[in-house]
Amino acid sequence: MNLDLTNKTALVCGASQGLGAAVAHELAMLGANVWLLARNEENLKAVKQSLDISLGQQHGYFVADSGDPEHIKQLITDFLSKGKSIDILVNNTGGPAAGPLLNTSLEDMQKGVTAHLLTAHTLAQLVVPGMKANKFGRIINILSTAVKQPINGLGISNTVRAGVANWAKTLANEIGQYGITVNNVLPGYTKTDRLDYLFGKQASDAGTTVDAIVEKTISMIPAGRLGEQEEFAAAVAFLCSPAAGYINGINLPVDGGRVGSL
Ligand SMILES: NC(=O)c1ccc[n+]([C@@H]2O[C@H](COP(=O)([O-])OP(=O)(O)OC[C@H]3O[C@@H](n4cnc5c(N)ncnc54)[C@H](OP(=O)(O)O)[C@@H]3O)[C@@H](O)[C@H]2O)c1
Repeated sequence: MNLDLTNKTALVCGASQGLGAAVAHELAMLGANVWLLARNEENLKAVKQSLDISLGQQHGYFVADSGDPEHIKQLITDFLSKGKSIDILVNNTGGPAAGPLLNTSLEDMQKGVTAHLLTAHTLAQLVVPGMKANKFGRIINILSTAVKQPINGLGISNTVRAGVANWAKTLANEIGQYGITVNNVLPGYTKTDRLDYLFGKQASDAGTTVDAIVEKTISMIPAGRLGEQEEFAAAVAFLCSPAAGYINGINLPVDGGRVGSL
């Protein structure tokens, strides 16, 4: 099985911690040069320093906010203008604020659309021409199992993830012929700061303890446990590899079997 990503360059968004950072590690271990994008420069530096360089990989980072697609466009345009290409794009950013849909302000909904959909669209428009020229490209969107089954209390996320999922499927149809795949990977409950935030909010909303929320959550997962970041990242890395060239336009849950539908 060909998992070799040497001489490939990946841009991994939301990569200063959590799932994005875990994906960056896996891609680097398969030989890719990895460029990280997020807001916190200290964390970006630390992740960059920790990436594998044993195969001569060269890594870097962009300090940027996914709520500002124009700035990201400038940064990536500048990067590409130096003769570089991006072979693998991992769209990812922080999850939108939790809360019921009807209470959501237009401003917060707009923020979710911008950070998740408009930034992904901007990046795809920038990197796809190079992917087409190289006849190889991988676009991965880190979404949520909410794409298959909306999660109560995550109104903005449920709405925006579905939009990105259909955006991705449409793009997959349009550019599959050029050796480019576009796939969505849907994390279930995976141990990161985001999950700590959600469990903390659920506990305070329900007037109970975080331990009680964790126990209830685990009872709904056939695997009987929460997911590890590395398990999620391994699925993404496989989809980025040459071996996964005929997998296109899918939603892949990595959720220990929690989602009830196929
Ligand atoms: N973990 C789970 O169980 C789970 C389950 C379902 C879905 N998800 C979704 O998967 C995605 C990643 O989750 P995670 O658990 O890894 O979250 P996380 O630990 O909160 O990490 C989020 C990453 O995104 C970056 N980020 C946040 N806001 C940003 C912005 N405005 N611009 C640029 N970068 C930004 C953060 O870095 P900076 O702060 O440095 O910018 C960080 O690197 C999220 O969308 C989350 O909702 C996670």
